Amino acid sequence: MRDKYEPMVNTLNKYLDEILPNYWYNIVPDLPKPLPPPIDPPENSSRIELLQQILPKEILKQQFTIDRFVKIPDEVKEKYGVLGRPTPLYRAKALERFLDTPATIYFKFEGALPTGSHKVNTAVPQVFYAHTEGVDHVTTETGAGQWGAAVALAAALYGVKATVFMVKASYDQKPGRRALMEFYGAEVVASPSKLTKIGVEIVERNPRHPGSLGIAISEAIEYALENGYRYVMGSVLDVVLMHQSVIGLETMKQLELIGEEPDVLVACVGGGSNFGGFVYPFIGLKSSKKMEFVAAASAEVPKFSKGWYKYDYPDTAGLLPLLKMITLGKDFVPPPIYSGGLRYHGLAPSLSILIAEGIVKWVEYKESDILEAARIFAKTQGIVPAPESAHAIKAVIDIALQAKKNSEKKVIVFNLSGHGLLDIENYRSMMLRYQKQ
Ligand SMILES: Cc1ncc(COP(=O)(O)O)c(C=O)c1O
Repeated sequence: MRDKYEPMVNTLNKYLDEILPNYWYNIVPDLPKPLPPPIDPPENSSRIELLQQILPKEILKQQFTIDRFVKIPDEVKEKYGVLGRPTPLYRAKALERFLDTPATIYFKFEGALPTGSHKVNTAVPQVFYAHTEGVDHVTTETGAGQWGAAVALAAALYGVKATVFMVKASYDQKPGRRALMEFYGAEVVASPSKLTKIGVEIVERNPRHPGSLGIAISEAIEYALENGYRYVMGSVLDVVLMHQSVIGLETMKQLELIGEEPDVLVACVGGGSNFGGFVYPFIGLKSSKKMEFVAAASAEVPKFSKGWYKYDYPDTAGLLPLLKMITLGKDFVPPPIYSGGLRYHGLAPSLSILIAEGIVKWVEYKESDILEAARIFAKTQGIVPAPESAHAIKAVIDIALQAKKNSEKKVIVFNLSGHGLLDIENYRSMMLRYQKQ
């Protein structure tokens, strides 16, 4: 039996090995304008120097690299394989039929990874570097719990402890994700918490504060600094977008194998990591065809329509250096929408440039709009998308219907950044709130 099937399995592995890249792609040298450097505030101590105590050394090095390609360590590549990379690229034929569109729709399914989203693509290298530098405890923030679950898994793989500050609104809304993190062995704390000075201050001012990613980041950093741990970050930093480039590099290879080239690429945007990871290789490495790039964000966190492009802190307490980015201001408290991963005031600096230069287009959708899109996708393709990813689906549906009006045979490719099986109770609440049936 084994003799019969082993060659087949090995051929498959060889083929998969061809798709999984050996290098991450860094868009920084290919940006239309130089990336404005992080800066220190005029008063107070240097935040840039503080980074050396906060981040693993190799992460800090990669954050500032201008190399176009950075080798993925063999150890990390092996873990990517263990966790199920390369992820599948599917054609959404049933959705095409439902929309009766001449467009062809493909989606890259990051929800196939064990914690249900793309976040593990950067959790693994960040925890790997921390571990190789002798660190035995990492801290982080999480919104919806997707990033926290990814860190909890990566920490378990390397035998490192993890403390996750989970935004209070999500801590209450998403007990399943909290349980998943704890199952992997992480300590999960509702943020704002009583473990840090900033948390205590905020709770004293407003004991019912719903929390925000900005606050949770500040707490995770303060806790790491106080205890000599290292902090790992789930989005916004350009090094995180670089790690996520495995998504786009694989997609390019997969499309190449079937002889297809996209006209439009779509992904949702919180801090920008799944968008950057998916789209940047197409922006920087493929210029033969004119492509459109669409970033889908939340109208409840209206950073594109109401934000500024200016220097701002990535975290509420201002412990990190100022980044030039599109931002709603570090003190913006987003409403407690169920797309917890989109509840962030800022945006990765590289993506902010691409938006400001008009290279990447954007759309914003209300929670009530994305519910219908998520249900259409579930009822046609069978997959319950994460509410964050449903923003991308809504954009894809709009583009496909426009293509129908114009009789255009567009090729639309989007990133399904996560599945929503652990968000199903939240969808139920949304249905009660927004729909009759
Ligand atoms: C499934 C999913 N998609 C998207 C996001 C948004 O983050 P980013 O913009 O960094 O990809 C998150 C964040 O938690 C998420 O969980």
